[in-house]
Amino acid sequence: MTDKPLAIITGASSGIGAALAAEIAADGYALMLIARRADRLRALADSLPTDAQIFTADLTEPGALDALSAILASLPRPPDVLVNNAGLGQGGAFADASRERNLAMIDLNVRALVDLSHLLLPQMLSRGSGGILNVASLAGYQAGPNAAVYAATKAFVISFSDALYSECAGTGVKVSALCPGPVETEFFDIAGTASAASHRLLRPLTAERVAAAGWRGFKRGRRRVVPGLSAQLRAATSWMTPAALELPVMKALQKVPKRED
Ligand SMILES: NC(=O)c1ccc[n+]([C@@H]2O[C@H](COP(=O)([O-])OP(=O)(O)OC[C@H]3O[C@@H](n4cnc5c(N)ncnc54)[C@H](OP(=O)(O)O)[C@@H]3O)[C@@H](O)[C@H]2O)c1
Repeated sequence: MTDKPLAIITGASSGIGAALAAEIAADGYALMLIARRADRLRALADSLPTDAQIFTADLTEPGALDALSAILASLPRPPDVLVNNAGLGQGGAFADASRERNLAMIDLNVRALVDLSHLLLPQMLSRGSGGILNVASLAGYQAGPNAAVYAATKAFVISFSDALYSECAGTGVKVSALCPGPVETEFFDIAGTASAASHRLLRPLTAERVAAAGWRGFKRGRRRVVPGLSAQLRAATSWMTPAALELPVMKALQKVPKRED
């Protein structure tokens, strides 16, 4: 077993998670890469210039978190960094959404993130080092009509991360929320929002750029990291935008054709 510091990354099989794995590996960390698609994880692990093990799991399954917890507890070296990146979206009116997708978003974006943070943070605090990088979203800065549950889960992640940032201040443990606007990944196709105006009008950033900004901000101890100027402007002004203006604009931007199922 390596004596390199160890980072755990959920949702590492594609997009921002895979790009974060490359960033963190380049900084000399060993990695544990987690997602459902074993072939993608294996290919990424083989391509990285570090020791990388994979754990294949659907983190919306309660048993998966128990199994992962057991593996993490048995590691010879406790993880130094946790990156809670795995996430799932869903576009469309709440009333048209499937019950399964609503609950899967909450289980993955919120439940798994809280559970893994709770498992690993105490060890970090006792060592006085390491930290947690949570991938939230600019969508968490306001309510998200036509993406109601997704935006609410990301508002949770921002609030939760801010609270942990404060609790960990002065301990040597870092906690950051990465809050990107649109990013070029598989996310929009899976969420069914590739046809939404928000996706067509706002120029997405690359996953590599978002990951580099997120990892840099985390190392610098930033509470929140918002990559890209337009997203930073949006984040900085969100608190002063009246809901009477904000909600109809967000509703129009995120409108997608009605789903058949
Ligand atoms: N793309 C954007 O515009 C954007 C903007 C702001 C924030 N974000 C956030 O960024 C994070 C990464 O998303 P992305 O854009 O990189 O999209 P992505 O390419 O679709 O990546 C999502 C990752 O989560 C994993 N995942 C999904 N469901 C899972 C499950 N049930 N169990 C375990 N892993 C699961 C996926 O792997 P498997 O399918 O192999 O399981 C994949 O590795 C998410 O939290 C997302 O909310 C994205």
